[in-house]
Amino acid sequence: MGLLDGKVAIVTGAGHGIGRGEALELAAEGAKVVVNDMGGSVTGEGADKRPAEEVAELLRSRGAEAVANYDDVADWKGAENLIQQAVEAFGRLDIVVNNAGIIRDKMIFSMTEDDFDSVVRVHLKGTFATTHHASVYWRNESKEGRQPRAAVVNTVSSAGLVGNLGQANYGSAKAAIAALTIVTSLDMARYGVRANAVAPGGVTRMSAGVIKDLEVKEADEYPDGEFARLNPGNSAPMVAWLASDEAMHVTGQVFRAVGASIAHYKPWSLGAEITTPKEPAKWKPENIGAAVNAHIFGSRNPGLQIGG
Ligand SMILES: NC(=O)c1ccc[n+]([C@@H]2O[C@H](COP(=O)([O-])OP(=O)(O)OC[C@H]3O[C@@H](n4cnc5c(N)ncnc54)[C@H](O)[C@@H]3O)[C@@H](O)[C@H]2O)c1
Repeated sequence: MGLLDGKVAIVTGAGHGIGRGEALELAAEGAKVVVNDMGGSVTGEGADKRPAEEVAELLRSRGAEAVANYDDVADWKGAENLIQQAVEAFGRLDIVVNNAGIIRDKMIFSMTEDDFDSVVRVHLKGTFATTHHASVYWRNESKEGRQPRAAVVNTVSSAGLVGNLGQANYGSAKAAIAALTIVTSLDMARYGVRANAVAPGGVTRMSAGVIKDLEVKEADEYPDGEFARLNPGNSAPMVAWLASDEAMHVTGQVFRAVGASIAHYKPWSLGAEITTPKEPAKWKPENIGAAVNAHIFGSRNPGLQIGG
């Protein structure tokens, strides 16, 4: 018995890295899997059907039901086709794991318009496009009297939730995906759909550019049963649990799942507050500094920490 027996899942960007580990984990838990990957470079150039086909074949060789899909998740029609393919192949759709991504790191003054647009397009629009088309399907199911027990699991990063140097495009998109996760959880609650996000980790062709001198291996290339901290498959168990009915009470949440650790991200929330002494009144700019320093920052120095 697996946690996801009878469920049908899409994992985007599952030809390599984190997504490949997630496809393997979901299939091992009993899900039928649509392995999406358009097979471009780490910076988003080109296309190749082999990564998705190879992973679908790997899952089938392990006894799972799996099909490959090569659509660009950020293409509106492509995302629609991906959802349709899952329903046509397996008769239903229960899980969408939005993982596909690219990077083009540059300092903000060197980042081109195309660098910004391309990265935001794949991560943010790609997550929105698949979620939109899946939500149309799930809402229709609910209206026809077949209430879904469905889950979206999005992929975020500390680069967006905490901030990181040289990742204006990537960090902005990841922070926006955290917000999109909360909005999706609110929009879709009445239709039986949950939405959560995970910040994963592991050495992949994407992160190897940041963490130098580390060998890039796929999750299935690590020895079975042996724990390796940087295995890109380590985040996948959390994704499988969030996608399962065991997590029916969890929605609108953001987690980090890296190595052996799982942690909960607290959402943005209001902290200390100051109000003008005389109500109703408007703040005078020259009075704000002293009040902010005394009552909002106190003894804490909010100054910039580079590389911290
Ligand atoms: N590796 C890490 O440590 C780390 C940390 C935080 C977040 N992430 C996130 O995890 C996700 C996976 O990253 P990874 O490290 O496995 O990188 P990766 O390059 O190994 O895998 C990304 C996959 O997405 C596919 N892809 C890219 N654009 C696509 C598109 N438009 N449509 C369909 N497929 C597309 C690529 O072909 C590739 O196979 C990304 O969202 C990334 O931002 C990774």
